Amino acid sequence: MNILVVGKGGREHALVWKLRQSPRAGTVFCTPGNAGTARDGATNVAIEPGETDRLTRFAVREQVGLVVIGPEDPLAGGLADFMRARGLKVFGPSKDAARVEGSKVFAKELMRHADVPTADFQVFDHPAPARTYVETRDYPVVVKADGLAAGKGVVVCRDNAEALQAIRRIMTDEEFGKTAGRKIVVEKRLDGEELSVLALVSGRTILPLPACQDHKAAQDGDKGPNTGGMGAYCPAPAGTPKLLADLEEAVFVPTVHTMKRGRYPFQGVLYAGVMLTNQGPRVLEFNCRFGDPETQPLLMRLKTDLLDLLEAVADERLHEFDGKVEWDPRPAVCVVLCSGGYPGKYETGKPIDGIAAADALPGVKVFHAGTRVDDRDRVVTDGGRVLGVTALGDDLAAAKARAYEAVRLIGFAGMHYRTDIADKALKAKPPALPAEPPKLPAKFRRPGGDKPAAG
Ligand code: AMP
Ligand code: GLY
Repeated sequence: MNILVVGKGGREHALVWKLRQSPRAGTVFCTPGNAGTARDGATNVAIEPGETDRLTRFAVREQVGLVVIGPEDPLAGGLADFMRARGLKVFGPSKDAARVEGSKVFAKELMRHADVPTADFQVFDHPAPARTYVETRDYPVVVKADGLAAGKGVVVCRDNAEALQAIRRIMTDEEFGKTAGRKIVVEKRLDGEELSVLALVSGRTILPLPACQDHKAAQDGDKGPNTGGMGAYCPAPAGTPKLLADLEEAVFVPTVHTMKRGRYPFQGVLYAGVMLTNQGPRVLEFNCRFGDPETQPLLMRLKTDLLDLLEAVADERLHEFDGKVEWDPRPAVCVVLCSGGYPGKYETGKPIDGIAAADALPGVKVFHAGTRVDDRDRVVTDGGRVLGVTALGDDLAAAKARAYEAVRLIGFAGMHYRTDIADKALKAKPPALPAEPPKLPAKFRRPGGDKPAAG
C-alpha cells in the first residue's frame, strides 16, 4: 500500500520510519519531508501541507492507500475532509473535529459541556469587558488567543498590568493573527507537573497510549521561553495505570461521546495536555494530532505494525486492537537539538556532523526535524528544532545516558539543547518507605538496644 505522510517535522520522520517497517508498506511519500525522511527511504515531494488541492491530486494519482496528516494546520483547514470527499482513506480528524485544537473557546466550552476537569475560564470577544474582568482576578492568570498560534498564543500573567498587555497584544495588535485573536480565553493558572496523554480514537473506540512528558521551556530547569518542545520521554512514570484509567473515564470518554453526539465525531489521535494539580488532573488543552516530540519516543517503543493500527482507525475497526497493542518495555528518551537563537530568530544552512555515528549506537535513532540536503549533498539545518536524538534503555536513567551519549557525537554551528530531559522522573521522590516502627519509651527498651524485650 502506498502511504502519504503530510508534514516535515520530527514527528513525521518518526511516522515515516515506523510505517516503512510494515511489510504491507509500498512507496511512502512525505510532503514535503526533510533530510531524514528521504534517508529513511521515503520519497519526498515538494508540496506544502497547505496546498490542499495539489496534495489531494497527488495522492489520487499515486494511488495512495492511506494518508497520515501530521500537523494541526492542515487538519484545522479541512484537508482530511477534502481528501475523503475524493475517495482517499485518511488518518486524522475532520475540520469540525479539529476545532478541539483549532479553537480554545470551542475546546473550553466542550469541556464545560462534557464536565471534563479543566481550569475555570471566561471567554471574551471584545477587549473592554476582558480588561474589566482581569481587574478583579486573583493572579496569576493565563490569557489565550482563541486560534492556532504555533504554540505562542498563551500568555501567563503575574499581575493586572501583564494581563492588560496580553489582551492588547492578542486582540488589539493582533500579534498572533487576525482570526486567532478575535476571541480570548482567560483562565486560572494551574500549578503542577504536565503530562501528554494521547489516545487513538475511532468511532466509539478509545485506545489510550502510554503517557509521555514533554519539556516545553527552552532551558534547563523549565526556564526561558516556551518552545515547540525540547525533549520528551515515554512512558512517564507519573502516568500511572490508575491515572490513565481515571483520565479515560473523566476526559476521553465524555469528550469523544460529546463530539460524536454533536455530529463532529473525532477520528485520529486525541492528545490531552494534562496538569497534575494538587486537586487532581486538569486538562490544559487538546491537540488533534500526534505530539512533537512525544511521537519520537512513543514510536520507538511501539512493536505493533503502525500501518495496521492507523488504517484500523481510518476504517473504524480500532476495537480489533483492544488490549493487543504491544510496546517495548524499555523507556525511550528524546533530546531535541536546536538552532542557535531558537525559539527566537535563528540562521539555517549549517552543516551537521556526526548523525551517522550517533545513529550507529545501539538503541539510538536520530529523527530529523528542520533538516535538508544541500546542493553539495550535505545534511544542513533548516529549522529551529533540528534533530530529535532518541534512545531506548533498560531503565529511564540508561535511556537518558544513551541519548546524551549520542547527542555528544553530533555538532553544528550554534547547536543548543537541554541537558535535563527526563530528570523530573529520575529525581522524583521514590515511593515512601514504610515508616519505621515508633521508638518505644525507655522503660521498655533493652539495655544497649532499641528492640523491645521478647515477651
Ligand atoms: P495551550 O496551548 O492551551 O495548551 O497552552 C500551552 C502551554 O501553556 C501548556 O502546555 C502549558 O504549559 C501552558 N498553560 C496553558 N494553560 C495553562 C494554565 N491554565 N495554567 C498553567 N499553564 C498553562
Ligand atoms: N509537544 C507539544 C505538542 O506537540 O503540541
